[in-house]
Amino acid sequence: MTTDALYQSHQQIQYDHRDELHHLLTTEGLRRETCERIFALTDSLTETSAVRKLPVLRGKTIVLLFFEPSTRTRTTFEIAANRLSADVTVVNLATSATSKGESLVDTIETLQAMQADMFVVRHAQSGAAHLIARHVAPHVSVVNAGDGCHAHPTQALLDGYTIRQHKGQVEGLRIAIVGDLLHSRVARSQIHVLKTLGAAQINLVGPKNLVPTEFEALGTRVYHDLDDGLQGVDVIMGLRMQRERMAGGVLPSDREYFRYYGLTEERLKVAAPDAIIMHPGPVNRGVEIDSALLDSDRSVILDQVTNGIAVRMSAISLVLSRSWSVET
Ligand code: CP
Repeated sequence: MTTDALYQSHQQIQYDHRDELHHLLTTEGLRRETCERIFALTDSLTETSAVRKLPVLRGKTIVLLFFEPSTRTRTTFEIAANRLSADVTVVNLATSATSKGESLVDTIETLQAMQADMFVVRHAQSGAAHLIARHVAPHVSVVNAGDGCHAHPTQALLDGYTIRQHKGQVEGLRIAIVGDLLHSRVARSQIHVLKTLGAAQINLVGPKNLVPTEFEALGTRVYHDLDDGLQGVDVIMGLRMQRERMAGGVLPSDREYFRYYGLTEERLKVAAPDAIIMHPGPVNRGVEIDSALLDSDRSVILDQVTNGIAVRMSAISLVLSRSWSVET
């Protein structure tokens, strides 16, 4: 697709999505049509990957505010915003006024006064991105880059895109999500996206204290036995043990967890022969996934990382198009 054609598709999307995508805070309630539009624009951007920079967001200022550690999300948002020609500022929170006691809302109002058009926010507290979205000016957008145990919408979208890339579509697939579901914002967002895109079955697999049966209310099946949960599945998504969110003593040891729930070639024999392995990262080798399996052809984990750039380019350009369309 040429840059002109990309502009035209972008203009069309601006009109269609100006209301729904003012902010991107959660995947709950996100329409299938919207997910597919994000994927279609991602396809266009991937086709034009030789074009390192597109002038789509020239003059826009995007502020990255990461109150929690991140490698993949922060870096791919930064690359994505740069490739769309936005002015990108990464606030160093260790040296910012928040470390001197300034409130989150005061920090946001201060940065907004510097004419920010978008905040991309990661925060340890569930609901932090929603709080910010309630306080920003009407022309400013907020993208949730992960809040507590609640949501991580762009991760779920890039995961959906990666499944579609390797399996053709999400519709009709059987998908297992294995590990610490209880503390996983990624899993919560994924479940919504996978259901919206028509997954046939979503199995949640892990120890009883990390995968409560209440999760079945989300339209999933809960398994505490790995062999049962992996039976015939097309996609297996490992999740990290989020020890920083556990009060302590939830799991006996990494070794014991690996023995019962660790993904290995041997344990995958009950899955579909062409099942792919995914993980949002960061991965603990030898805890969630055997090191050899992680490095095998079945693993599409690095594709997830790469797709994070184009999916985030697509998502932030669609979100910012709301205010942009007022001016054009
Ligand atoms: N998947 C994910 O959110 O990774 P980071 O914590 O490295 O951003």
